[in-house]
Amino acid sequence: MTTAAFAEAAAKAHKLWGGRFKGGGTAPQFDALNNSIGVDIRLWPFDVELSKAWAMALYGAGVLTIAECNDIERGLNAVGQRLAAGVQPTASDEDVHTLIDRLLHEEVGEVASKLHTGRSRNDQVATATRMWSMDAAGQLDAAVRQLQQVMVDQAHGLETSLMPSYTHLQRAIPVSAAHWLLAHFWPLERDRARLRAAAKSAAVLPLGSGAAAGCAYPISRTLLQGTLGFDAVTSNSIDAVSDRDFVAELLFAAALIGGHLSRLAEDLIIYGSSEFGFVQFGDRFTSGSSMMPQKRNPDALELARGSAARMLGDLTTLLATVKGLPSSYNKDLQDDKRIVFDAVDTLLLVLPAVAGALAECTFRGDRMRAALSSTMMATDLADYLVRKGATFREAHGAVGQLVRLCEERGTELHALPFAEFAQVHHAFDDDVFDALSAFRSVEHREVEGGTGPSAVRAQLEAAQRALDSTIR
Ligand code: ARG
Repeated sequence: MTTAAFAEAAAKAHKLWGGRFKGGGTAPQFDALNNSIGVDIRLWPFDVELSKAWAMALYGAGVLTIAECNDIERGLNAVGQRLAAGVQPTASDEDVHTLIDRLLHEEVGEVASKLHTGRSRNDQVATATRMWSMDAAGQLDAAVRQLQQVMVDQAHGLETSLMPSYTHLQRAIPVSAAHWLLAHFWPLERDRARLRAAAKSAAVLPLGSGAAAGCAYPISRTLLQGTLGFDAVTSNSIDAVSDRDFVAELLFAAALIGGHLSRLAEDLIIYGSSEFGFVQFGDRFTSGSSMMPQKRNPDALELARGSAARMLGDLTTLLATVKGLPSSYNKDLQDDKRIVFDAVDTLLLVLPAVAGALAECTFRGDRMRAALSSTMMATDLADYLVRKGATFREAHGAVGQLVRLCEERGTELHALPFAEFAQVHHAFDDDVFDALSAFRSVEHREVEGGTGPSAVRAQLEAAQRALDSTIR
């Protein structure tokens, strides 16, 4: 389009404002920056819904007759159908609210001009974004839950497989592989609680706040709240049009989910390397190399790990946007949607891919067992001495000497002759080699939350129970 043609189109554009402007239209450079239709069009189902509720509220306040209210409702239903069928905005539609207003005029004519009585796009967009966020939290909850179910299913097959646990990525103490996998389950369970909390924060209705000072018609906000499925109404109209805390909370939950997924992905990627070999990846969530025929790369997991940066960036972008804003609505806030859409879209891509990648992992119990060594039972050996009456400090020192000896001789604790044990501590008996068994080590840890067989079984049951509750 030429600049002149654009200016003409802009001058004729359907606008929700413009009376105080000369009528030449806005600059294309301004429209390119200002128009948010490309981003916010996806709010349309919520904007249609809240607009219907608003028409009812206006009828209740005596602003619309019942006939006008019915016309508008019928029109909005038709607009919803056209949007669902994929009707596209024109270049001059400023945002989703303007688009719906234009389409409503096409459907019902001039009565459409009464719908915007007493409301502003400021309370309108805040309401629609809250409705979208509540819905998004529910979708994320379902996707997280699906991944958690894969974890529980895989963990069932891993209860009796023992592997090293790690601290500082150094071999620590043997654990059930199910225990390791469930260590990634509980962070996601906390994430689901955070999603619920974010949805609750979003469930406070701003509609009726107008541009900043509240609606001048006697509409019932309580009725609007009930119709639109909110828990409460906002207490202050100035706060209501600029509050984006609920977006920040959803973004924080998303950023943390991203972080948790990245840690799970990292464990799987390391354990899937030839050096570890605990995990074998499947065919459907990995890719090959264009050069090296032997390669199988865990791309889905790497993309999950990488995408955590996106959610983190989205959260900091939103926090930086709201910092230092003057009170009430400012156009800076328009960008909240691009940010929160990006975070939620990314996670809704990543979560099913991680679930799929994990579901097709084969865990190699033989390779895990091979990574265990009797020296990892050094703590159990110290505990053995404690049970025979030694203090832990003394036991720790004695076992430390044995470990040093092993290191010098290039051997493991179980391969030392009994005489060496007897020499560092008198309480060692010939049942000491029993204490060096990985199974024995695990069996001793039946404390709640520990890696003992019964404790892990109880944990698995608790995990499944947690999955049986859903958001809202
Ligand atoms: N598209 C705008 C947004 O998303 C709607 C609110 C515009 N308000 C205004 N006073 N210009 O924030």
